[in-house]
Amino acid sequence: MSKAQFPSIRMRRLRQTDWVRRMVAEAHLSVDDFIWPIFIRDGKNEREAISAMPGVHRLSIDLAVEAAKKAADLGIPCMALFPNTAPDKRTADGNEACNPENLVCLATDAIKSAVPNIGILCDVALDPYTDHGHDGLLEGETILNDETLEILAQQALNQVAAGCDIIAPSDMMDGRIGVIRDALEFAGHADTLIMAYAAKYASAFYGPFREAVGSGNRLKGDKRTYQMNPANSDEAMREIELDIAEGADMVMVKPGMPYLDIVQRVKDNFHIPTFAYQVSGEYSMLANAAEQGLMDRQSSIFESLLAFKRAGADGILTYFALEAAEILNS
Ligand code: PBG
Repeated sequence: MSKAQFPSIRMRRLRQTDWVRRMVAEAHLSVDDFIWPIFIRDGKNEREAISAMPGVHRLSIDLAVEAAKKAADLGIPCMALFPNTAPDKRTADGNEACNPENLVCLATDAIKSAVPNIGILCDVALDPYTDHGHDGLLEGETILNDETLEILAQQALNQVAAGCDIIAPSDMMDGRIGVIRDALEFAGHADTLIMAYAAKYASAFYGPFREAVGSGNRLKGDKRTYQMNPANSDEAMREIELDIAEGADMVMVKPGMPYLDIVQRVKDNFHIPTFAYQVSGEYSMLANAAEQGLMDRQSSIFESLLAFKRAGADGILTYFALEAAEILNS
């Protein structure tokens, strides 16, 4: 190694013009990186604002189809669908999750019929369907693990029957990837993709999402007995390893920006398609800061998304997907 120093080394040479900055850029953002989560509600021609997420709306299925057309035209590869289930359909056992005519299934079917070239990802977890807001069955104050697995497998099969391409278990029950993978194989769905919310932390950053799906004000207690402790990193490696062994095709880290160290460790260690979820709270922080004039909206969005790529993510679930894709395409 030479001992070259200033002035023979001047780091600023590589930063002096736009073309050279672009030429030496290590990370790149493209429309192919995006999965766009949207919220579905009942009705027709309904576009309902979500106060905790300025700029994001709950869409009735007809408008969700329009949104999917737009996304596909912009080149967004995949959308994630989340339902705001009517209160009278929320029960202790969340069995609306297994109704072939629930909002997610109807929306999946409608979108796949009208826009076959966009991938559809569906969450597997009971929280949009339970009256207690938990992701699994509740007995006293305990979330039952093994009893929940059965209903999750049914929920997954129900969504696949509606046309879902990617099953994304977000419930954090132990063993769910294996149980769902077996159920898919047994039912003849050998090609269904699984993206495991493998390292999912018990996070305050999900607050706005819970308003969006209407589970927040129902939630009794918290999710710390099944979602991960934000203090842990080695434990995330164990979660990822297990989910891959059980049959996950892709893994996810969630939330995103506060957990970029986890994204990097996962990508470095497992060499598997790795996604990060820029969750509702991250969206709302940026959107609100921009709305108040504290930060430039476009550049803070792009900086935050690029950071995921730099950390090693292969893709990002982001509520900014449509806006970012429009800018990337222009
Ligand atoms: C459901 C689920 C949650 C999110 C995605 N799937 C909420 C939770 O676990 O409480 C959060 C997404 C976001 O905040 O944007 N299990």
